[in-house]
Amino acid sequence: MTGRRQTDMPESKNLPKHVAIIMDGNGRWARSRGLPRLRGHQKGIESIREIITECTKLDHIEYLTLYAFSSENWKRPQKEVDFLMRLLKRFCRQELKTMVKNGVKFTTIGAVRGLPEDVRVVLDETGRVTKDGDKLTLCLALNYGSRGEIVRAVRKIAGKAASGKISPRTISEDDISAELDTAGMSEPDLVIRTAGEMRLSNFLLWQASYAELYFTDVLWPDFRREHLHEAIDDYTQRVRKFGGLGEDR
Ligand code: IPE
Ligand code: IPE
Ligand code: MG
Repeated sequence: MTGRRQTDMPESKNLPKHVAIIMDGNGRWARSRGLPRLRGHQKGIESIREIITECTKLDHIEYLTLYAFSSENWKRPQKEVDFLMRLLKRFCRQELKTMVKNGVKFTTIGAVRGLPEDVRVVLDETGRVTKDGDKLTLCLALNYGSRGEIVRAVRKIAGKAASGKISPRTISEDDISAELDTAGMSEPDLVIRTAGEMRLSNFLLWQASYAELYFTDVLWPDFRREHLHEAIDDYTQRVRKFGGLGEDR
């Protein structure tokens, strides 16, 4: 395929512009090999690298959102949380040059303020250095929970209403979307969850209202580019109706 973006393509191509992934199964991958859970997280980084690279090669994908750490994941043992934070910092530092070279713009969603200071510094730096990337926006969901995100948005909107800047009667869906962490991004077209679990676990509840969901038993550390292509192929077979009649007219 040439360098055309999806917006230039005929509608019938039906290719996802925003792919979001719930990367699950690192712990099970490790356990099945008699290894500590942390090794599963470490191995999962290889899948992340491969999927980012593949997405930069697919012209129709403009956004890749990866659920990396949920606001509920603090419930895990401190040792695992600390390891995940270290892994995140190392990933950002190691991938920085490659991201710049490949036109990847790094962003985050989630309550980043709740992350340790040293992690925030690295995230800020990565975002700053990659800000001109125009091939793919890589969005990491960190300390992310959809309900918490909506609560933060509601607080901002309520603040504006209380100070008389807006009238509650005029608040629209677009106004709410504009206060979410994903403001300015298109909504996810395809949400993939690995490791056989069929739930959203507080991921993009508002934004994925009409996303196509794809579940696979493959554990995240085993997830490779061919699995991404299987998901995209499946997506292209779906008829998105958005409440209308789609192709059944
Ligand atoms: C996903 O793998 C990674 C994170 C949630 C950080 P898990 O660690 O949840 O793996 P399982 O579900 O225990 O196998
Ligand atoms: C969802 O996976 C969060 C991430 C992938 C970061 P979990 O493993 O935390 O989800 P549950 O607990 O099985 O719902
Ligand atoms: Mg899990």
